[in-house]
Amino acid sequence: MGTADEASAAQAVRQMFNSIAPRYDLLNHVLSANVDRLWWRRTARRFRPILADPDASVLDICCGTGDMTMALLKLRPGGARPILAADFARGMLCRGALKFGAESRRAGDPYAIPLEADALHLPLKSASLDLIVTAFGFRNLANYEAGLREFARVLKPGGQLGILEFSEPGGLVGKAYAVYFRRVLPTIGRLICGKNGPYNYLPTSVGSFPPPTEMLQLMHSNGYEQAAWEPYTFGIAGLYTAKRSLVV
Ligand SMILES: C[S@@+](CC[C@H](N)C(=O)[O-])C[C@H]1O[C@@H](n2cnc3c(N)ncnc32)[C@H](O)[C@@H]1O
Repeated sequence: MGTADEASAAQAVRQMFNSIAPRYDLLNHVLSANVDRLWWRRTARRFRPILADPDASVLDICCGTGDMTMALLKLRPGGARPILAADFARGMLCRGALKFGAESRRAGDPYAIPLEADALHLPLKSASLDLIVTAFGFRNLANYEAGLREFARVLKPGGQLGILEFSEPGGLVGKAYAVYFRRVLPTIGRLICGKNGPYNYLPTSVGSFPPPTEMLQLMHSNGYEQAAWEPYTFGIAGLYTAKRSLVV
């Protein structure tokens, strides 16, 4: 994709998420039968040692309405440095801030600072973060390599990255899931949110997302080491993890 194409693809994604923001949480929980909650919690637990350090700098990028951020906050000690929770769709971010912002939390409880920002151009200093997590957002980026490089720029050497994403399982489970994902899910999505586009977009974007072997290669060639993929729930989703290389 060229830069102009990337800019218009990003604009279309932002508009789509702003338009479904009021119904996003409801749709998510109905369509995933609440399994998404388990995935967010499992992802957060994977980074428990970093989250337990009150001084660790943590970014949840593509935070949307904030459920991944909330799972991360559960593992932060009282008085910890706030998490940064960033998204470029204001409609999504504002709903997230109502859950994780300082005003919505009890005094002394860990909280997150909402930041309206594009994942490909983060307004953050180089080598400033210990951990970046992103849940179901990375697939939407207009340029995956540019995203990985931008995350590598802001991570400290040895800092960790976690990308939770959908995947397309193989075998019989894959076949059954494909029927649900490509036929049932867009229909339910349309009924609840009254729009055609967004829930047709979901299976299409998952279908064109690189498979795990390719994603791991992309990670290794864009500034990371020890890249790994852990499938969740028969490989319907999975967590990519990696460390920012000591030398980039
Ligand atoms: C499917 S939602 C996931 C939200 C949340 N992380 C969750 O697990 O429910 C994807 C989010 O990524 C955001 N997003 C997509 N591309 C982005 C970009 N380039 N920069 C910042 N946010 C982006 C969208 O606005 C949307 O809120």
